[in-house]
Amino acid sequence: MLWGGRFSKGPDERMRRFGDSLPFDHRLYRADIQGSIAYARALARAGLLTPEECQRLIDGLTQVQAEIDGGTFQVRPGDEDIHTAVERRLHELIGPVAGKLHTGRSRNDQVATDLRLYLLERIAHLRSALLDLQRAIVNQAEEHLDVVMPGYTHLQPAQPTLFSHWLMSFFWKFQRDQDRLTDVERRTRVCPLGSGALAGNPFGIDRRALAADLGFDGVTENSLDGVEDRDFVVEFLAWAALVQVHLSNLAETLILWANPSLGFVEIDEAYATGSSIMPQKKNPDSLELMRGKTGRIVGDLVGLLTVLKGLPSGYNKDLQEDKEAVFDAVDTLTVELPVATGVVRTLRVRPDRMAQALDDGMLATDLADYLVRKGVPFRQSHALVGQAVRQAEERGIPLKELPLDVYQAIHPAFEEDLYAVFDFRRSVEARATEGGTAPSAVQAQIEAARAILRNTKHEARNTEHEIRDA
Ligand code: ARG
Repeated sequence: MLWGGRFSKGPDERMRRFGDSLPFDHRLYRADIQGSIAYARALARAGLLTPEECQRLIDGLTQVQAEIDGGTFQVRPGDEDIHTAVERRLHELIGPVAGKLHTGRSRNDQVATDLRLYLLERIAHLRSALLDLQRAIVNQAEEHLDVVMPGYTHLQPAQPTLFSHWLMSFFWKFQRDQDRLTDVERRTRVCPLGSGALAGNPFGIDRRALAADLGFDGVTENSLDGVEDRDFVVEFLAWAALVQVHLSNLAETLILWANPSLGFVEIDEAYATGSSIMPQKKNPDSLELMRGKTGRIVGDLVGLLTVLKGLPSGYNKDLQEDKEAVFDAVDTLTVELPVATGVVRTLRVRPDRMAQALDDGMLATDLADYLVRKGVPFRQSHALVGQAVRQAEERGIPLKELPLDVYQAIHPAFEEDLYAVFDFRRSVEARATEGGTAPSAVQAQIEAARAILRNTKHEARNTEHEIRDA
């Protein structure tokens, strides 16, 4: 035990199980060892370790890492967390010199550093998984650039739009998520190591060199804030929650459209399941889970905010509760994002079913715009077209079959050419202003998106290493 000196007995077994974080924080081991190696070097630079001692620590830590990587590491009672476990094993391997590693360091600045290092590595991975999804979106949009479908507001048929336009709307949500992740990363890439337990490091450690050694951009400005700050975790979870909400919105819309009564899209069989009783069923489980996982990730965020809310200044053990929230959000998105990408990539688009769902009513705005072009103020033209809609409804016919004399009785600005308005493609093509649903405008979006994708570095994937059965 690291702190047993003033105690006459060990913890109650139930207390031990209650307090131990090794069962979940073992996955910080690479970050922990990386941090310890850099800290050993910092101690050597400050003259607290001889070069030989420093090397023995580094060799020992490297060996501990190899044992954990290789699954041969043995957890012992008393290994309360990953920091304790690594140091205990280091002592077994290299003897008393291991006891010099913790000089001026506290598990408080150690764990804050570990969590940042871990998160930075996972952020790179999640960024690249999100990029894959964005790529799948752009590819599908390009492939189905010209497909016209009903656009909705209030889930009611509103105006014709391009399917590609709808799909690209998600590209931009996920692009904002990328921007937000860059921001989260910037504030995560700051090193608290050298803050000690709360008051700072008394041994003149060069914190800037230490931070640079670990790939951080700078050091935390205040040792007390350095050990207690979990803003970066909250920001990461808020990021994850918003990504999750976007995934959920995408999923819900696709579930609706994949329903046979609309049938605008079909989910590939690889992302659907059958029913154990109803042979005809093809259930969009992938999408339902993309919607359902929102509960847990929003829960992770709210849970951590709640833990932080009542804390007095300084490290408090409550902070140990930050980790499972992060791991849960990371694990969920790590599995979910590639599934979302697969669903989008393999989505079967049904332009025929989309065309069937278009009706004249969705061109009522275009008819009002027609009158506007003839000099009628929009508010008036809106009301006039409303009259036409009512009359068509009363006669049980579509708007385009309402005779010209009826239109002209409503307003003389209606002329024979009004019937040219009843063309869904023309309606879509008219909205060619930047950001609109016209094919030319969507093509421009796709090109802008492709430029962004080209400029975003595709980070290498890192595989996860964990202590088996810890
Ligand atoms: N397992 C602890 C955590 O995750 C490490 C820090 C322990 N610090 C302490 N003062 N007991 O927060």
